[in-house]
Amino acid sequence: MSDTLACHLEGRFRPSPAGLVRVGSGLVLDIRPLTAADAEALRSHVRALSVRSRHNRYLGGLNELGRSEIDRLLGGAGGTVFPLVADVVENGSRTMVGEAVYAIDHAAGSTEFALSVRDDWQGRGIGAALLGAIAVRAGRAGAGLLHGETLRGNEAMLALAAKVGAAEVRHRDDPRLIRIERRLEAAGFALAA
Ligand SMILES: CC(C)(COP(=O)(O)OP(=O)(O)OC[C@H]1O[C@@H](n2cnc3c(N)ncnc32)[C@H](O)[C@@H]1OP(=O)(O)O)[C@@H](O)C(=O)NCCC(=O)NCCS
Repeated sequence: MSDTLACHLEGRFRPSPAGLVRVGSGLVLDIRPLTAADAEALRSHVRALSVRSRHNRYLGGLNELGRSEIDRLLGGAGGTVFPLVADVVENGSRTMVGEAVYAIDHAAGSTEFALSVRDDWQGRGIGAALLGAIAVRAGRAGAGLLHGETLRGNEAMLALAAKVGAAEVRHRDDPRLIRIERRLEAAGFALAA
């Protein structure tokens, strides 16, 4: 199943001819791997997140994405770490509105994710599309479990997790956190109605 088809689930995401994805809000997205050319835009994206969003994305641990972290993402950590960006494509131009990272643990058969959407673009289906794209890629790589960590008060992430049918699990080490888990099929997952 292609990424665009996977995002077609429930009729919320409609594939478009250029391989782009149209989300329910009408936006056209290109969800693609991060490249070296995106380094500055990614830094700007993180810097421009509201304090709350950045706190939620990095669990309180980061203010600025350093060059070494970007190099680590671009290096892929030996083929296990995959950074993605989401561009809105309109009138022939594109704007980076979201980013995500997923890390595949082949031995455990699982994939961990984290993501963020620019504050002024939140609530328009971009986070769900990013998570769907990760699920497809992880499922294709043979991971049977998708998981992430979020702060307890992060209602948007918890609601997004519920939307995709993920379970909330007690975090073993940190009471501030909730672990989110979703079993995957080879094609990712279908969004709940
Ligand atoms: C969590 C986050 C990625 C969601 O992205 P988003 O693009 O705003 O989410 P979507 O528009 O795709 O929403 C998908 C579903 O999630 C739920 N949801 C998202 N934001 C919500 C909010 N603020 N309140 C309640 N539900 C929300 C809804 O069920 C929504 O589906 P619906 O629109 O059909 O009701 C975004 O809020 C964000 O970047 N937050 C800061 C970083 C972060 O918290 N990352 C997660 C930890 S790694």
